Amino acid sequence: MAVQKYGLDLGTGTIKIYKEGLGLALKEKNMIAIRRKTEMVAFGDEAYAMYERSPLNIKVYCPVKNGMIAELHDMQILLDLFLKKIKCTNGFVSSNVFYFAVPSDITEVEKRAFFDLAMGSEFKTKDLYIVEKPVATAVGEKIDVLHTPGAMVIDFGQDTVEISVVALGGLVASRLLKIGGNAMDEAVCEAVKEQNRLLIGMKTAESLKLELGSALNAVQSYKKVLGRDMITGLPAEARVDSQVVCEPIQSLLHQSVRVIKTLFERTPPEVLRSIRNNGIIVNGEGSRLTNLKEYLERELSIPVVMSEKPDESVIRGLAKIMADDKMRSLAFSVKEAIFS
Ligand SMILES: Nc1ncnc2c1ncn2[C@@H]1O[C@H](COP(=O)(O)OP(=O)(O)OP(=O)(O)O)[C@@H](O)[C@H]1O
Ligand SMILES: [Mg+2]
Repeated sequence: MAVQKYGLDLGTGTIKIYKEGLGLALKEKNMIAIRRKTEMVAFGDEAYAMYERSPLNIKVYCPVKNGMIAELHDMQILLDLFLKKIKCTNGFVSSNVFYFAVPSDITEVEKRAFFDLAMGSEFKTKDLYIVEKPVATAVGEKIDVLHTPGAMVIDFGQDTVEISVVALGGLVASRLLKIGGNAMDEAVCEAVKEQNRLLIGMKTAESLKLELGSALNAVQSYKKVLGRDMITGLPAEARVDSQVVCEPIQSLLHQSVRVIKTLFERTPPEVLRSIRNNGIIVNGEGSRLTNLKEYLERELSIPVVMSEKPDESVIRGLAKIMADDKMRSLAFSVKEAIFS
């Protein structure tokens, strides 16, 4: 019987699905629009287009929070719709095998949610594996995970910044900080409220971050944005300076750097030497922030290797792990993980 393998990275911002033999088959906003809690109105990129623009009785949101499944029912609907889009089948000649990338500090209950998600799917599978995201990333970035004495991976995601050390085929340390891109956007909203007396939405804040944000003090610049005047509540326009945007972003980055330094203090010297040799691997779309590499190298005095396709390293790693028997030990059967 033919077996079709899938690699899934359920991000808080975007879902990425790899289909063996086809490559990256789907990358879409991991969002659902629901009317009166029951009726699905839109999903994926279409739902995102409605975010902050929909009437009050329609809720537009992502059922994954901090990389974990927060709303199983809605994630179930989404997953099946996405799988249908890439023509996943349940036919007699094919059996599906799913590899889920999961955050590093996942609990047994959270693992169970991935199991329930796969088992509740229309395309249910008997073979379901989980791979820790930092391990998948390191493999995707060509680190010899089974033999390296140490490599550090930092994922700048939507909800979280995940800092991990992998060595000799496994995870040896990790920190999941809830200060990803969303936290930056929220901080930018606050700063604009304080400095410009303007209420803006998360999409506007994100556009400010993308255009003016920088990890180091950038060239003085500005952007005009629309929002609501804090006093009158009426639509208004303001000129937001790059400094207003950069300050809160840099303050969140400092928090990540402090945690990385603490992790280094607890890392044995031979592991640290290996991290230095490999360079710190940085991925996640948040790593596209201007001057992030320069900032991290200055703060940490260690070479930093930026992923060329920061949204795809997890998926590339999953693809290699599922294709190579030698890497089998990097994937855990969920049944074993939960019921043993
Ligand atoms: N050029 C850029 N500069 C700064 N941030 C960026 C840039 N491009 C994208 N981002 C941010 O990256 C974040 C999304 O990252 P990513 O797609 O890696 O998250 P995810 O994989 O969906 O979520 P997670 O891994 O946290 O569950 C968003 O907050 C987005 O604003
Ligand atoms: Mg991610």
